[in-house]
Formats: sequence, structure tokens, C-alpha cells
Amino acid sequence: MALLKDLEWRYATKKYDPSKKVSQEDVDKIVEAARLAPTSSGMQQFRVFVVSSPELKEKLVPIANGQQIVAEASHVLIFAAWDQYTAERIDSIFKLTTQERGLPSGKFNDYTNRLKAVYLKQTPEENFVHTARQAYIGFGLSIAQAAELKIDATPMEGFNNQQLDELLDLRSKGLKSVLMLPIGYRDEENDWLLPMKKVRNPKEEFAVEL
Ligand SMILES: Cc1cc2nc3c(=O)[nH]c(=O)nc-3n(C[C@H](O)[C@H](O)[C@H](O)COP(=O)(O)O)c2cc1C
Repeated sequence: MALLKDLEWRYATKKYDPSKKVSQEDVDKIVEAARLAPTSSGMQQFRVFVVSSPELKEKLVPIANGQQIVAEASHVLIFAAWDQYTAERIDSIFKLTTQERGLPSGKFNDYTNRLKAVYLKQTPEENFVHTARQAYIGFGLSIAQAAELKIDATPMEGFNNQQLDELLDLRSKGLKSVLMLPIGYRDEENDWLLPMKKVRNPKEEFAVEL
């Protein structure tokens, strides 16, 4: 119930108070929610970049089609996903799981072979469609965690992904940007969206009982 109240409270904040900063402790919690997200086969196919530097946030404005939100927010989280699957990436996470759980080496070999048979046959573009989906799961949990802390957030995909990848040199890290999440504190006086009713489809249309 508390979570639903937080989700009703949150909205896609359009104007931030640039003088209010999110504490490092709270930024860490919002990132941790994404780290704890479930992902397909547990491969954690995405990473989160935390931008707090005013200079770097300013550079995000033209990339975000002039949306000032990214400069005025306290921090901007950037969710980036693997540009493709590789055998090394698949092996690496299962090696970690094997070690952390104290399992015999090679325990997941059959499983990783099946994953490789599926993903390594696909194009990098097809792979990225799948890895990017995983980023959305973490993104949703970060938004919910921010709301629980009464920190505002704006989900954003309205930006030029290629330009952002270049700015952050993501391609050299084998990543491509998926989403931005500015976080901070709403400017109560000047945000046009704040007084507006939250609009959703009626429950009986949304959930279909079979
Ligand atoms: C994936 C995604 C991308 C979005 N991109 C933008 C964006 O680029 N700029 C923006 O102002 N809002 C953006 N939004 C906010 C949506 O318009 C907003 O979440 C939706 O209208 C519902 O309103 P609420 O979040 O206030 O409840 C995005 C939302 C999502 C989930």
C-alpha cells in the first residue's frame, strides 16, 4: 500500500529546483534498486552512469532536444545496455554466480551453451533490443525507489542516443544508451505538470479478468 501511495505521489517532473541536491546516500539507494532488478537469465545486461557535474549536465541539454530538465535536476542517471551478447559476457556472469555460490566450476555450462546458441546467432541489433529491455526493468525500480524517498524523477527517452554514446564514450565500453533519469526536487511554484491530475485508463479496462 505504501508503494502505491508513492507511485501516486510521483509524476514526470518537468521543472526542478536547481538549488536542491540529492544526497549521495539517496543516489546510491536509487542506483541500488536498479542493481537489484531481475534480468533475463540474471545477466545484468545494463549499467548506470551517474552524472552530477554541472558542466556535463549542461552538455546533455542539446542532446536531450533542449530539455532543461537535465541541467536543472540534481543528478542524471543514464541507463546503458550491452551493445551485443558475447561468449565472454555470458560466461563472466555465470562464473561470478558459480564462485559466489560456491558451486562446482562448469555448473552452468549446459545453460550458458543454450544461451549462446540463441543470442550469438542474432545480429547485434537484435541483441540490443533484448539487453535494452533489461535496462527498462532497472529503470522502473529506480523510479519507484526515488518516489519512496520522496525524490522526484523524470523518465526520459527523448534524446539523441548516438550523441550521448559519443559524449560518454559508451561504445568503447561495449554499451549503448537506453534511457535517462534526471532526479532531484520539484520546483513547486513553476512546474506546470504538478497541479495536473494523474490520468490512467480505468482499472476495469486495464486489467482483464479471465
Ligand atoms: C520510457 C519513457 C520515456 C519518457 N520520455 C520522456 C521525455 O523524454 N521527456 C519528458 O518530459 N517525459 C518523458 N516521459 C514521461 C511520460 O510522458 C510520463 O511518464 C507519462 O505521461 C505519465 O505521466 P506521469 O509519469 O506523470 O504519471 C517518459 C516516460 C517514459 C516511461
